[in-house]
Amino acid sequence: KRLSSDDLIQPVFIKEDIDGTEEIESMPGILRYGKSSILREVESIVRSGVKTIALFPVVNSSKKDSKGSEATNKNNLMCESVRLIKESFPEVIIIADVALDPYTDHGHDGIIKNNYVDNELTLNILRSQSLVLAEAGADIIAPSDMMDGRIGKIRKALDKEGHEMVQILSYAVKYASSFYGPFRDAVGSKGLLKGDKKNYQMDFRNSDEAIREVALDIKEGADMVMVKPGMPYLDIIKTVKDNFKIPVLAYQVSGEYSLLSNSIKKGLIDKNSVLESLISFKRAGANAIVSYYADRISDLIK
Ligand code: PBG
Repeated sequence: KRLSSDDLIQPVFIKEDIDGTEEIESMPGILRYGKSSILREVESIVRSGVKTIALFPVVNSSKKDSKGSEATNKNNLMCESVRLIKESFPEVIIIADVALDPYTDHGHDGIIKNNYVDNELTLNILRSQSLVLAEAGADIIAPSDMMDGRIGKIRKALDKEGHEMVQILSYAVKYASSFYGPFRDAVGSKGLLKGDKKNYQMDFRNSDEAIREVALDIKEGADMVMVKPGMPYLDIIKTVKDNFKIPVLAYQVSGEYSLLSNSIKKGLIDKNSVLESLISFKRAGANAIVSYYADRISDLIK
């Protein structure tokens, strides 16, 4: 198997009210970008040969509430950034994350009722969030919230509002994982999060459930599916790829990134380990890989 720049997707953290960039302590080498620096970063990603980015917002805590209301504001950080990037780089494919965790004051992906994230209450907000993102120009809407039934609801809303061409990348198989730690730090939901996400994310002991989740999402209209985390779940990537004729994406998540980066920095492992890890996704059957190393590896292999 070979890896090409077309296989790689770069996650990008955007943050309001910062000048320039900000380092992320838990993810050495990854930055948060403000309005004044985001275009330069996108330009550098484009120069590396990577054509697709996945945007994640770091929202001011003053804008967070229990319902994640800011998610549906058509002038929020995500929507403004999508417009800004598309103006200068219309050819860049933008994947917009759909979930409430960057916007809630409790750090969960949905609305809480009786101590649990409530599926039905959350669906309506996700629908509006998807519409404002599509309206702003996002090419791909990526629900990472793991509520049941959201793909169908979002697809219907997009079609009704004239966004038939907007694709849906469903995080169909997302495990409740300890490997997301640095990401939660990066988007500022870590300190806020109470409890865990096990009532909506999958139990890592299950593999058959992955097949059921993907089948449901395809039926509801998903164009592509994501398996997440990556390396500890190569078996799941292969199972999904073997069972369905649909593009399967893999996410090399923040914890995987930090493990590799820290070990490379300490000289414990060689930096070729990064390429090796990414090729393993291809071997397992992934059609594309979201990785914090995307632009750097693309620079290396192009
Ligand atoms: C939540 C979300 C998470 C990630 C992307 N979207 C973490 C979580 O479920 O808490 C993790 C990505 C990573 O670890 O790199 N909507």
